Amino acid sequence: MTDMFKAPKGTYDVIPPFSQVWRAVRTALSTPPILSGYGYIETPLFEDTALFVRGVGESTDVVSKEMYTFEDRGGRTLTLRPEGTAGVLRAMLENRMDRGALPAKVWYTGPNFRYEQPQSGRYRQHTQVGVEAIGSSDPVLDAEVIWMAVHAQRNLLGLKNLRLLINSLGCRECRPAYRQTLTSFLDTLDLDEPTRHRATINPLRVLDDKRPDVQAMLVDAPLMPDHLCAECAEHHTKVLSYLDALGVVYEKAPRLVRGLDYYVRTTFELVHDGLGAQSAIGGGGRYDGLVETLGGPAIGGIGFGLGVDRTCLAVQAEGIDLTNTEPLNVFVIGLGEESTIAAVRLLGTVRSAGISADYAFDGRSIKAAMKGADRSGAKVALILGPDELANNCVIVKDLTTGEQSTTALDLVTDALVARFN
Ligand code: HAM
Repeated sequence: MTDMFKAPKGTYDVIPPFSQVWRAVRTALSTPPILSGYGYIETPLFEDTALFVRGVGESTDVVSKEMYTFEDRGGRTLTLRPEGTAGVLRAMLENRMDRGALPAKVWYTGPNFRYEQPQSGRYRQHTQVGVEAIGSSDPVLDAEVIWMAVHAQRNLLGLKNLRLLINSLGCRECRPAYRQTLTSFLDTLDLDEPTRHRATINPLRVLDDKRPDVQAMLVDAPLMPDHLCAECAEHHTKVLSYLDALGVVYEKAPRLVRGLDYYVRTTFELVHDGLGAQSAIGGGGRYDGLVETLGGPAIGGIGFGLGVDRTCLAVQAEGIDLTNTEPLNVFVIGLGEESTIAAVRLLGTVRSAGISADYAFDGRSIKAAMKGADRSGAKVALILGPDELANNCVIVKDLTTGEQSTTALDLVTDALVARFN
């Protein structure tokens, strides 16, 4: 036998019945943006490499270590998108959405590619549902974006074991001075070489170090929220008060730093406590300045990316059952050659009426067909043999109770609509 192929390392297949959970999660995550006036956008899976280098930041792990970069046959350097924001902003600018009504608000969903060390919850291809809103600095927009993320996870999916962490990372005015203060503090500590190196690239990232001994040294570290300029402090206070108004429960997280370079002011992460190391099921924040970096005007923006893969893990960890979201209602069985045309016609009529239905293929015996009906999970079997055909009727068998009755062929679809729709 020839060897079979396997999915590439760090990837997995989304197959039934798990795919029902997947689709239900994706639908739930995309519902709040649709409710909030965000238009759907789809952009290419690959972009010019330079877009990510400039947009996401050269010093980030994502750009320096994790990109799938290749040269195409025309000699262009392209990269499979490692995240959604840079490509979506590129598309919004290219399509002049920044010149229309502002804020311009879009949502998207699709896969991203990062060459990471695979483990539970961390893959080389992962899927996000995200939003981006550009052209407004209003703190109400920050609150709207955060509300959407939380509403989907907490209310639509029913996740309980979830915390919203929120911080402000300051702006181009106040962050440099804070960064200097933090660097001076870190210089006094006995950090190992890799950590010291990280501190030179971005000292804020050290605050996020998960190791207890490092955290112990950081107890007295200066924190960004205490060093915000007056405008950033006011913005942050307003965002928190609007979140209160929206009933969003949050935790202030003055040590929260995100892995991408473009964030300023509001940053947030949704953390699920049942997932181990890869606990962030979503995150985002403001990126005033990024639109300009990508060649657009000096307008602000904010967005989030929610991880579909990790949200599915969280849903499963909490025992929330989403596998019955696409139930099969009807199973049609035609017995004997002469019944097939009538059975196929019935199958078409039932499906056209909006009722899900499957069929007993390959003309098997009634016993085999009934086994197939049970296995399909359908609620009702419609059985059509020569006797029924002669009488223009069909046997309707309830697969849950086992009860069966006979109904006229031209009435059965209406009866099913009344039951299932
Ligand atoms: P991010 O935090 O890099 O942000 O990714 C968002 C979410 O995607 C994470 O919280 C996580 O749930 C999921 N995720 C990321 N990497 C992986 C992976 N290797 N395996 C499984 N899941 C993963 C962004 O990507 C930003 N573009 C979000 C954003 C939009 N900020 C502003 N606008």
